[in-house]
This record gives sequence, C-alpha cells and structure tokens, in this order.
Amino acid sequence: MGTMRTEISFALIAGITTELLAVLAIDTQTEKGPETKPRPTLLSTDAAVLAAAAGVLSTGEYKAGANETVLLHAPAELAAKRLLIVGLGKLAKATVHSVRDAAGTAVRFAKPRGIREVTLALPEDFAKGSAGALARAAVEGAFVGDFDADTYRSDRKDQSIQTFTLAVAGTLAVQGAADREVIEAAFAEGAIVGESQNFARALVNEPGNKLTPTILGQRAAQMAQEVGLAWEVHSTEKLHELKMGAFWSVSQGSPEPPALIVLRYEPEGVTDGPVLGLVGKGITFDTGGISIKPADNMEKMKYDMAGGAAMIGAMRAIALLKPRARVIAVICAAENMPSGTAQKPGDVQTAMSGKTIEIINTDAEGRLVLADGLTYARQLGATHLIDAATLTGAISVALGKVNAGAFSNDDAAYQKFESALTLSGEKFWRLPLDDGYAELIKSDISDIKNTGGRGGGASIAAEFLHVFAEDTPWIHLDIAGTAWVEEKRPYIAKGPSGIAVRSILEWVRSY
Ligand code: BES
Ligand code: MN
Ligand code: ZN
Repeated sequence: MGTMRTEISFALIAGITTELLAVLAIDTQTEKGPETKPRPTLLSTDAAVLAAAAGVLSTGEYKAGANETVLLHAPAELAAKRLLIVGLGKLAKATVHSVRDAAGTAVRFAKPRGIREVTLALPEDFAKGSAGALARAAVEGAFVGDFDADTYRSDRKDQSIQTFTLAVAGTLAVQGAADREVIEAAFAEGAIVGESQNFARALVNEPGNKLTPTILGQRAAQMAQEVGLAWEVHSTEKLHELKMGAFWSVSQGSPEPPALIVLRYEPEGVTDGPVLGLVGKGITFDTGGISIKPADNMEKMKYDMAGGAAMIGAMRAIALLKPRARVIAVICAAENMPSGTAQKPGDVQTAMSGKTIEIINTDAEGRLVLADGLTYARQLGATHLIDAATLTGAISVALGKVNAGAFSNDDAAYQKFESALTLSGEKFWRLPLDDGYAELIKSDISDIKNTGGRGGGASIAAEFLHVFAEDTPWIHLDIAGTAWVEEKRPYIAKGPSGIAVRSILEWVRSY
C-alpha cells in the first residue's frame, strides 16, 4: 500500500496546478413539494471555479446529492486539469461528516482513472463545522477512500493517491496566521487518525493464514516500536501463569499459540488520574471450534480480530497525538479451531478472575478471551474500560450494518463516548444491560455459562462481559455487523471498515 502524501495549500484555488480539483456542492433547496427542484450550490467563492461550474449547475442534471459527482475537463481559467464537483446532499442534513465522505468520494473517483493527485477545496460558507474540524474530516476521509483490499492480486496496480492537497483559500486564507495554524494542526491530526484507521483495516484484511496470533503480535510490536509505545507480547506460558483459563481454552484447539498483546502509553509527567484500559477481541480465525460454523461465509471469520485491530490502530494514533492520560491496551489473540485438543461443550473453565464458566457453545469464544482480557486490564490498573469485539451475529439482527452496538455500566463514561461520536462521525447505538439478561447465563454446574438462549443475544453477551468488568466503569462495543463493508460505497471500498478506531481515540482524548 502506497502511503499518501498530504499537503495544505494556501494559494488561490484558480492557480493551483493539479490533476484533479474537487469542490463541494450542497443542495440549498429548503422548500418541499412536487414542483420544487434541487438547488445545487458550490461551497466556493472562487470566481473561476464558480464560472467553470455554472453551466452544469444550471442544467438540473446535477443535484448535489450526497456523494454525487460530476466531472469537468480542462476547466477554463483554472490551472487544474479537471474539476470534480462532489455533493454533500441537502443543507439541512449535511454535516462535517458529509465532508469526510465527500473527500473519500473524490479520492475513490480518482483512483480507478489513474489520477494520482487530488486537491480538495476546503468548503467555504459551510457553517456546520469550524475550519479545523472540516480540514480534519477532509483528510481523514481521503485516507479512508484511499484504502483498497486487493493486496494479494498478482495483477494489482497500486492505484493509491500519491498526493492529497487541501486547498484553503478564499476568505479563510486571509484571516491570518493564527487560523492557518489551527487548520494546519487539525489537518496533521486528521492525517494521523486516517493512517491509523487504515493501519487497523490492513490488519483486518489479512487472511487467517497470513495473520496468526503470533504475527498479529509481531505487527503490533513493530508499530509500538515505531511510535514509541511500551509493549509486551506473551503466549501460552504467560496465560497459564496468569491463570487465564477462559482465554487459553479458546486457543487450546489450535497448533497456533495464542498472543497476549499489551501496549502501554505513558505520557511523561502523568502519574495520577484515570488509566484507560482498551481490550480487544483478536480471534484471527473463528471456525466456531467443536460447535463448528456452517461453511457458507465462514471465510469472513478472518475479520474476527477487528476489535483487537481497532485497539491497535487507536493506540497508534494515541502514541502520535499524545493525550494527557495513561492508556493500556490488552489484545487477546487466538485461533478458534476444532481438533482433538479443542475444548468441548460441557467443559468447565476457570477464568483469571476465579469465576467458573460452563462452555455451552465453543463458538461463543470472543466473550471467553475478553473475560480474561478485562480482568487483566483491571489488574494492570485500568480505572475505566472499553472493549471492542466482533462479538455476536445478534447485533446485526438488531442494528444491521448501519449502527454498531454499545453497552455500558456507567452513564458518565458512556456520555463521554457519545461526545466522542460527534467528533468521530461513527454510528453506535446504546443497547441495554439488564439483570434479566444476566439471569439467562446462570449455570447448573458453575458460576455462569457462555450462552443464554435465542433472543437478546447481544445483550446476553454483554452481560457475560459485565461479570468480568464488574463495577469498573466500562463500555462494550459490538462491531460484528459493521467491521466489514459488504457493498462498496462511493467513499469506501468493500472490505474492512476500520470502525471504532476514531471513536475510541476520541473517548481517550476526552479524559
Ligand atoms: N465471531 C462471531 C460473531 C460474528 C458473527 C462476527 C458474524 C461477525 C459476523 C462470534 O464468535 C460468534 O460466533 N458468536 C455466536 C454466539 C452464539 C454461539 C451464542 C453467534 O453470534 O452466533
Ligand atoms: Mn464464534
Ligand atoms: Zn468470534
């Protein structure tokens, strides 16, 4: 994967020499009714851009719908070779997050056409976000758009964008050095966030044979080394030493050893305050184990480490953006396989916390590895917990691919997460924890069992984790329905979505 270079230009838009200049447009029509037509309006004050686009905007053929594009070649009076207009949709609905998507759309428009250079004009007169927020969203969106999943095609042409430029001209550029600095800082942040999200996506995209728990550990360690995080990667012996019977039981059926990945961010001079514990499910392949899954779509289960990858990606961004709170990430990586050494339904496992678990279904393995991950994070001093996991098919039944699921035992922690969502633009929907769900995982033989019947599967799984989070403020993210994009969109390729990286980062930064 080529790394996209990013630049800011404060030059006048008309004079920027580029392969593709993208300018955003919005539908300012507010009237409703059968007779009303969309009113596409450019978010630019550049006279040459306005003149070049005037023709196509007046015909009615272009409506400035969300991510709708129209391309003009050799626009008069512009140094750019091409002018691409990208829609944000209706004014009432458009947000800073629409700008993120539009930037992705511009990049994904360019890629298959062999265009290696994209310049996006920062929207002007768009009151939905500060210039900094817009700059950041734009560069994040450009990274999101630049990612493609076809890494193992031998005829693959690397179509990555070489240079993404954000053009900040018009009224903004003349407002002075302070504004420039704010925009530049936000832009630099956005590049780190976008790169980190793509780092997570690249891990999730790897097939199970190329990314074993051991290799995931190596990749995390290498990243940690590069960005200056402290790290440790342990395996079977350490699991036994820590008495992680739940985590180990998942790994026992595979010849691939498990990996307990620990990443630490310790900002200089910060010795008190919260310690945020990030716990990720890192099942590098989930066959279901002895309770084996059907063959249809089983290949998808390579993405069962997306929660762990989200934590690794978030830690990369944290290391580079340096928030003022200590953070520990614990990623529990294992392969869930059926074999003569695999655990069996009916087996009873003793978790690190001492709680005993009756295994009803070996396919409910994510909660087992997370149980010990949560206990370990608390033992390492975490005062607040967040976990991410492709945990249940039930979350897709409840929320589809539109929202990911969120659960929490602490309204204050969750409120911070909700605020984080307004910055990240990711969609999570809070679902309930309830003693009624906890009832369903009581076992006849042991403290709890690992499944609890048909209805409410996502909440039951969350209550299982709650047993191990106990009363530490904790948020659980179930990303099973949203970690993989099944159908490409104008701004994102089919494949790993990188969901949760941005929201986890913003949650951490809120402490
Ligand atoms: N990894 C799966 C959940 C999943 C399903 C992720 C679809 C992505 C897409 C998880 O380990 C699992 O198998 N969960 C079971 C739990 C059940 C046995 C209680 C499920 O959801 O069916
Ligand atoms: Mn499973
Ligand atoms: Zn799983």
